Amino acid sequence: MGAEGIRVEKVSGRIARLCEKTANGASVPGSTGIGHTRWATHGAPTDINAHPHLSNDGRFAIVHNGIIENYLALREELIADGYVFRSETDTETIVHLLEKYYDGDIKTAVMKTAARLEGSYALGILCADAPDTLYAVRQASPLILGIGVGENYFASDVTALVAHTKNVIYLEDGEIAMLTPKSIQVFDCTGKLIQKPISRVTWRKGGYEHFMLKEIMEQPAAVKAALAPRLHDGEIRLDDFELSAEKLRSVNKIVITACGSAYYAGCSGRYAIEKLCRIPVQVELASELRYGEPMVDEHTLVLVLSQSGETADTIAALKECRERGATIIGIVNVVGSTIAKLADHTLYTWAGPEIAVATTKGYTTQLAVLYLFALYAAEKLGRLQKAEYSALVHSLKMLPKRLQETIDMNYQIPALAGRYTSQSLFFIGRNTDYAVALEGALKMKEISYLHAESYAAGELKHGTIALIDEGQPVIAVCCNEALCDKTLSNIVEVKARGAKVLALAFRGNRKIVSQADDVIFIPRIETIFSAALAVVPLQLLAYYAAKEKGCDIDKPKNLAKSVTVE
Ligand code: AGP
Repeated sequence: MGAEGIRVEKVSGRIARLCEKTANGASVPGSTGIGHTRWATHGAPTDINAHPHLSNDGRFAIVHNGIIENYLALREELIADGYVFRSETDTETIVHLLEKYYDGDIKTAVMKTAARLEGSYALGILCADAPDTLYAVRQASPLILGIGVGENYFASDVTALVAHTKNVIYLEDGEIAMLTPKSIQVFDCTGKLIQKPISRVTWRKGGYEHFMLKEIMEQPAAVKAALAPRLHDGEIRLDDFELSAEKLRSVNKIVITACGSAYYAGCSGRYAIEKLCRIPVQVELASELRYGEPMVDEHTLVLVLSQSGETADTIAALKECRERGATIIGIVNVVGSTIAKLADHTLYTWAGPEIAVATTKGYTTQLAVLYLFALYAAEKLGRLQKAEYSALVHSLKMLPKRLQETIDMNYQIPALAGRYTSQSLFFIGRNTDYAVALEGALKMKEISYLHAESYAAGELKHGTIALIDEGQPVIAVCCNEALCDKTLSNIVEVKARGAKVLALAFRGNRKIVSQADDVIFIPRIETIFSAALAVVPLQLLAYYAAKEKGCDIDKPKNLAKSVTVE
């Protein structure tokens, strides 16, 4: 917003293009502004579909994070009212509603507009009649206000604010904020002024080059924070709820649902729950489950995993299962997040703020809580002898220490990264090793942009081994010692076809040394807990591969920390 009113400059593609187009913002002078890096949902990623969108009279501009579910009906209504649409987006319906409801009172126009919207939205609104004022509205999509000195901000993620201020206000669903350079007012959905607490963002990079490396190194402390509140003199107690033996005996199936790394944490946690509780566990991608007419009912216990607690697919999957009578336990990191509110019970992972887009401590603390749950339920069900239960609880209590040992013993990973991450990679393993290999491959893809594929080692011979040529890097996870000989035979198979193999095994495994080209060792731990240790070298391998390639490690291209749209 400048002297001549609202000026819009927008492009598709990378932010660098916009910087070039506006001479790093010099060509759009002004004191009040809104911007958005669009995650395309409705309408291709084109210049015209980029945000902000302008009202026909040029008075309002808007940016939007989320999805307007009823946008088609609104679009038809507005076209019938004579409004002209320029883009294919759902967002544009909002700015025309603002024009439709505006009679000089901006806040009322915002409230009337919000009342018409169905779906999720974090909105940023500019009006030419109030050049030093911004409006922000939150509904099911994160929105945070930043309190500056002589200036104020809003953003959908706290990472965008922290360079400017550490004092923030977290908006709740239905709340509307009005920001000027000197004040912030927050109103509830009825327009009543409300008081909001100010939170202090306390995290820093702590001397690390990237938040991701800091968060990898924080894992021993983060896992300890996840475990400690639930371990009491050798017993496990969940926070503020109990699952009775009777309730657990009524459960005939456990469904774990999540997205991305959280899904992979579920794939690993499943082994601990099935082995200890002897209850069938189904791990389902939330984006599939939400449309799959899930076969869940009052005898199903659903564990919903999410670091952010705001992932749209996971929220939708949770609602699908809840409507079918399932009991929902949310395992989330962000306190007060949407999933935490929707679940019947919540187990926070207490990882602390995770800033890097690629999750690390978010994943390992999810595992820690899943292991806790598995032991808690197994003991309630009488599936474990006291001695075995106590030994496993002790082993779990030692997990933070084992994590630190894992980090300390793997100083050679930067060198290995250079040797194994020159091209597309395979991550192979069996059972618990295959599950953690899935996460290892995702880490490699999302921060180094190298193609990586995780494969069940026993499946290679059914086709994929055709791709193994001379020099093909293969990362073989061999921590499941009951299956180690089988995985060893897979290592021999791929080496016979020219692969170079980096194996991951427990300290003291001598067989593996004779077969693999290089070996990463981790401390010995129960197989069902091994993923929490095995993942750390895989995180570091991806980190150093990305560093070598000069990638934007904390903010990889095309990725968001929380995918709040489907
Ligand atoms: C993690 O490295 C990825 N960035 C991504 O897969 C993430 O795990 C996924 O989007 C789920 O996020 P959530 O845990 O916040 O629900």
